[in-house]
Amino acid sequence: MKSIASAPGKVILVGEHFVVAGKPAIAMAVNLRARATVETVEGDRITIRSKELKIEESFSPESINTRSPLYPVYIAADLARRHISLEEGLDITITSELPPAAGMGSSAAVSVATAAAVIALRKKINRGIVSKIAFEAEKIVHGKPSGIDNTISTYGGAILYVKGKGFTRINLNLKDVALILADTGVPRSTGEMVAKVRKLKARYGSVLDPVYESAEILACEVAKALEMGDIKTIGELMNINHGLLSAIGVSTLELEQLVYMARNAGALGAKLTGAGGGGLIVALCHKKSLPNVEDALKKFSKRVYIANISKRGVIIEHKTFL
Ligand code: PMV
Repeated sequence: MKSIASAPGKVILVGEHFVVAGKPAIAMAVNLRARATVETVEGDRITIRSKELKIEESFSPESINTRSPLYPVYIAADLARRHISLEEGLDITITSELPPAAGMGSSAAVSVATAAAVIALRKKINRGIVSKIAFEAEKIVHGKPSGIDNTISTYGGAILYVKGKGFTRINLNLKDVALILADTGVPRSTGEMVAKVRKLKARYGSVLDPVYESAEILACEVAKALEMGDIKTIGELMNINHGLLSAIGVSTLELEQLVYMARNAGALGAKLTGAGGGGLIVALCHKKSLPNVEDALKKFSKRVYIANISKRGVIIEHKTFL
């Protein structure tokens, strides 16, 4: 049996980090996807290869390399295999259009696609279960994630997410604007950045509490503005959100440079996106100012992407019974 599933990456428009402490955040699925091709094989081994990372690893009950970068994918595959009560082994090939460790949710997209492809070998996929399995893999990658990445990658579109409570869909009303992403080229670990913020919050709780409350109000205001198509407000609130993220210590010189380049070139708003410490910025632009912003960002960043929102979450692309 063989199946192929793909799942989208994401961009967090506002609310990253604050979401870990239970505040709402807004995420959008983007049209760059990770893909898992899964085939059943004899025995009980799960062999996983990543085309982009150029590594292959075989996991069996007797030998599990928990340090392998592919270990989280193994966990997603194994949990999905148990869910469908499959006793055979698996051969899994991962390909991804998403830059790793940059804040676009590549690890979640890989886990979501893997879990879905394995489940599809025997059952119709249930999105709730796929997202839950991917969350287990995300815990290995990031320590204590909020669950936003696996949720948006599973369901697609745009969502307002609250940890432990689930999500509400946002009906986007955006015309004549685009989101543009630029990579600092500095890799970072989401787990480390989340731990850094936790330490700062523990030390300066009473100082930072109002910042967290402000982030909560801000995310709700952005959700309203997205539905009303109020792009000026969205842009301004993105700028304010960037300031709040700087306040909790996750911006860097490179991120600030890209943010100011985007704003100075005519973006409606620009901020770091994801865990910070490196990785990406996201800017909201009028389509007419897009070439200007793109040119400005390209002077400083080797990877600049126009992010089209993907309505589709995880999908089964192919299924055969050999
Ligand atoms: O992994 P990233 O860079 O896409 O960021 C995840 C967003 C955080 O809020 C920083 C962490 C989380 O689990 O929500």
